Amino acid sequence: MAATEQVPGCFGLEGTNPPSEPCVMLIFGASGDLTKRLLVPALYNLACDGLLSENFAVLGTATRPISDDDFRERMSGEEQGIRKFHTRQEFEPATWDKLVSRFHYQNGAFDDLDHFRRLRERVQELDTQYGCRGNVLFYFATAPRFFGTLCDNLKAAGFQEGPGWKRIIVEKPFGTDLASALKLNEEVLAHWDESQIYRVDHYLGKETVQNLLAFRFSNGMFEPLWNRNFIDNIQFNVSEAVDVQGRGGYYDTSGVLRDMMQNHMFQMLAYLCREPPGSFEPDAIRNAKAKLLESVRVYTPDEVKRYVVRGQYGPSFGPDGAVDKPGYREEPDVDPKSKTETYAAARYHIDNWRWEGVPIYLRSGKALWKRGTEIVVEFKKAPHQIFRGTPVDHLSANRLVFHIQPYQGIELLFQAKVPGPTLNLQSVDMAFSYGDNFKASRYTGYEVMIYSCTHGDATLFSRGDLVEAAWRVAQPILDTWAAEPADDFPNYSRQSWGPKAAHELVERDGRRWFEVVTPDVLEESPLFEGADPLLLNAVIMALRARAVEAGETIIEQGATADEMFLICRGDVEVLDDGSIAETLHCGDFFGEIGLLMATSRTATVRAKTLCDLFVLDKTAFGRILRDYPQFAESILTVARERYDVTVSKDQLIAEA
Ligand code: BG6
Repeated sequence: MAATEQVPGCFGLEGTNPPSEPCVMLIFGASGDLTKRLLVPALYNLACDGLLSENFAVLGTATRPISDDDFRERMSGEEQGIRKFHTRQEFEPATWDKLVSRFHYQNGAFDDLDHFRRLRERVQELDTQYGCRGNVLFYFATAPRFFGTLCDNLKAAGFQEGPGWKRIIVEKPFGTDLASALKLNEEVLAHWDESQIYRVDHYLGKETVQNLLAFRFSNGMFEPLWNRNFIDNIQFNVSEAVDVQGRGGYYDTSGVLRDMMQNHMFQMLAYLCREPPGSFEPDAIRNAKAKLLESVRVYTPDEVKRYVVRGQYGPSFGPDGAVDKPGYREEPDVDPKSKTETYAAARYHIDNWRWEGVPIYLRSGKALWKRGTEIVVEFKKAPHQIFRGTPVDHLSANRLVFHIQPYQGIELLFQAKVPGPTLNLQSVDMAFSYGDNFKASRYTGYEVMIYSCTHGDATLFSRGDLVEAAWRVAQPILDTWAAEPADDFPNYSRQSWGPKAAHELVERDGRRWFEVVTPDVLEESPLFEGADPLLLNAVIMALRARAVEAGETIIEQGATADEMFLICRGDVEVLDDGSIAETLHCGDFFGEIGLLMATSRTATVRAKTLCDLFVLDKTAFGRILRDYPQFAESILTVARERYDVTVSKDQLIAEA
């Protein structure tokens, strides 16, 4: 079919991609959270975009005894249904009504074979009614302990018979350790072929993750540099601002290593670091991924202690010193003595020709100061030698930053000469933003999963051997941690950058975590809240990093204000006439007035701990506003309305 050919027989607008293949989608766990929050909105998005076949029906099943109409009503509701969870700007009632009219429901227990026989009859009826050609997509949106029983009963009820394809999408977690993953694979594959099993990792549904593959293999200029000769280290950062969000019961049996690292982060690692596949065939791509994961060094207990650190968040405190939000151990359904880690950072080694000796750092945690997933590829530095005798005292590394979420884009950071008579360098960037170049994706990530499964394309799904390879790397870490006390827990406070040990892990190697300030972090300051993305990006590029020792004065009362600070790590104290008026933490801003006017500082600010700060000085801010005069007016308004400060435009943009 030609790419531009119009496609008949699909919901909504006709597009350039063929619609999903006809099928009945049988969802196990249809009354659960995943179905209403993600699966149904994904089906709705596909329908709105003309990517869902007309020959399609949903049969939901769970234990709750409700009718087809009840099921449809639940899925349609404002409180808990599509009207709450859809991801589009405008809700399209006509498309939804047509879609939901194809939703059906049958209650029953997962261990009741008669229930499966009834399900088979219903599926056959729906197949005839909607012309689904015998194709059935089974979606296991249930706890993994049911996977084996579901597979057995589907087989026993005769679902494998008859025409059409039969495929199973299995939700994560796939196992809780290596032994359980091996057992699960055995159970699932007892009656089904590997080619029929689609193991979901929703990170592979993200456009920015899929683009890692396109970026690496469609751009000739990077591949020659993609190895130990040119790359110094790679950092994967998945920080979440949210805590366990009421999922303490689940999380306390999991922890961040199982919840994020073993699956989502290892998938990204494999995408970024694998060898070029021989083709874009699903198995060629997955073979290359498996090979990479098999090259990740499996640590001995001693290596775990050396290369992996864990953390658990403690409470946060309000200005009056009282607990503001609970620590992990005080969360509902969490053991008050829990050793479960809510943060982990690791240095991994990939023992192959390409990556030998290149540290691969991964870190992830909950209740951190910002939400952001980034991958930073740090290149080896240029030799500083030739800059001897110039004002340039050091050279920064070139970095390629993949912004996965929430900001989506790719950035290349390099050095440029600051205009002027002397040779001074500044980091500048070339940036690609998804939002500027493509229509922003409204997708949940599950659309592409469902869509490609109906087409038999397993590229974005994990395979049995991949899952096992990832558990092989995680297992010694789990074992070592289980055998050791976690006496220092909780070892980081909410809204911080995580435990000190995570910083020491990279500092020991003479490196630092590269912290990415995203526009949403900047918008936390009243000065930049709601500001234009162009201005936010210009400000981000002008930020300078500064490390401050504990006890060092950052702002002196009475000194002229000419800088704004953002705390990236550590705590600072605001002193009013010698007494502590306030303590500020990671993610807090101070000194913004310094960007607006050259007034005298009214308080002293002192580092309480070792601090990493980002600094924006008035000269740089003035230059940005001269470059983008359209923003000067809005900053004047913000100064007046949010800071009660009246300044003139000339004062604002004055050169130092
Ligand atoms: C899930 C984890 O798999 O991924 C959650 O169970 C985590 O704990 C979530 O919050 C993160 O997904 P995303 O898409 O928000 O990065």
